[in-house]
Amino acid sequence: MAQITVSLIKADIGSVGGHTRPHPSMMEALKDVLRDGYAKNIINDFYVTRVGDDMQIIMTHNKGIDNSEIHGLAWNAFVEASNVAKKLKVYAAGQDLLKDAFSGNIRGLGPGAAEMTFEERRSEPLVFFMADKTAPSAYSVPLLNIFANPFKTAGLVIDPRMHDGFKFQIFDLIDHKEITLSSPEELNDILAILGDTTRFAIKRVFSKNEELGIAASVSTERLNLIAGKYVGKDDPVCIVRAQSGFPALGEILQPFMEPIFVPGWMRGSHNGVFYPVSVEESDPTYFDGPPPICAIGLHVVNGKLQGLEDPSSEVGEHIPVDYFKFPCWNHIREESMRLNVAIRKQGSIMPAILPPEEMEYTTRPQVLEKLKDRFTKIPQK
Ligand code: 13P
Ligand code: 13P
Ligand code: MG
Ligand code: MG
Repeated sequence: MAQITVSLIKADIGSVGGHTRPHPSMMEALKDVLRDGYAKNIINDFYVTRVGDDMQIIMTHNKGIDNSEIHGLAWNAFVEASNVAKKLKVYAAGQDLLKDAFSGNIRGLGPGAAEMTFEERRSEPLVFFMADKTAPSAYSVPLLNIFANPFKTAGLVIDPRMHDGFKFQIFDLIDHKEITLSSPEELNDILAILGDTTRFAIKRVFSKNEELGIAASVSTERLNLIAGKYVGKDDPVCIVRAQSGFPALGEILQPFMEPIFVPGWMRGSHNGVFYPVSVEESDPTYFDGPPPICAIGLHVVNGKLQGLEDPSSEVGEHIPVDYFKFPCWNHIREESMRLNVAIRKQGSIMPAILPPEEMEYTTRPQVLEKLKDRFTKIPQK
């Protein structure tokens, strides 16, 4: 059976009325380029969606991860959409396209990528998480709960294929180093590392059953570190494989029932609580937030995508399940807002604002520079 790769590549290239949502014609521009990529046999299938002001391209193909043709196709799609954005003069048109030309793969150019290659199971349900106004470490708490917390994920206790636990590949995003640790044996070490959200994030999760392979993949690109200054937030995505040896859908969504504090809201500078919401209602409008998190479900079928649409419908036309749309999430949203309103009362004072090392990429250093000569020594005894 051929190996299938799923690539989720995302970028914020401008939005209507502030950092809220892309213009529909920008989404159409993405689709036009991807339809062309399908016609040229570069991809098997695609789906275009968004969370807040970030646009996502989901593609299936047979070319593996970090492939230049696949990343080049996504880059061209974002360039075309950003030309539309510039014509419409939407806000921050071209925001995440930091370089003028494509080279090799998307890494270091601005967009973010979560990809995984696997042998398609009899049924291959995937959950795609998409977040706005936050950073890659936002997925640390939910992924730990999904794959390493037996009090949450019943499958770790009662499914023999999950009972041995999972392996976590963790990236140091400052020094560009990686480490893979095994849960449950090394869980306390994993927690000791991931506690520092300024530096560490989960990149991938693997089943210990080699036949099953990869379980989850996160986009860990840090926009401000690439740009060297504040241009926008990373707004990361994450793909999780569900069921049959992996956590059940309910176990994958369960961590979002509890408040998750994440960095990156308002000017990329504030902490907030994730707001689980439907794609349609994900426009960030409360202090440019709170950080929306969307989750959609699609299957991979013979290398293509399948949702609730007619199987014979046109390529790229899919109707995913929108998990956080359902009313049972209303009281979670209310709880999230209760906490978000509370933290907003703290203004720009820590812990409402991010720690100094994260603020280096904002305009704060310029303020400190301006005032530097007005700082005078306090005499010490
Ligand atoms: P079903 O019995 O409805 O397939 O559900 C199985 C499962 O994994 C639910 O968590
Ligand atoms: P984005 O990263 O989503 O563009 O948000 C930028 C911002 O500054 C919002 O306050
Ligand atoms: Mg934006
Ligand atoms: Mg955004």
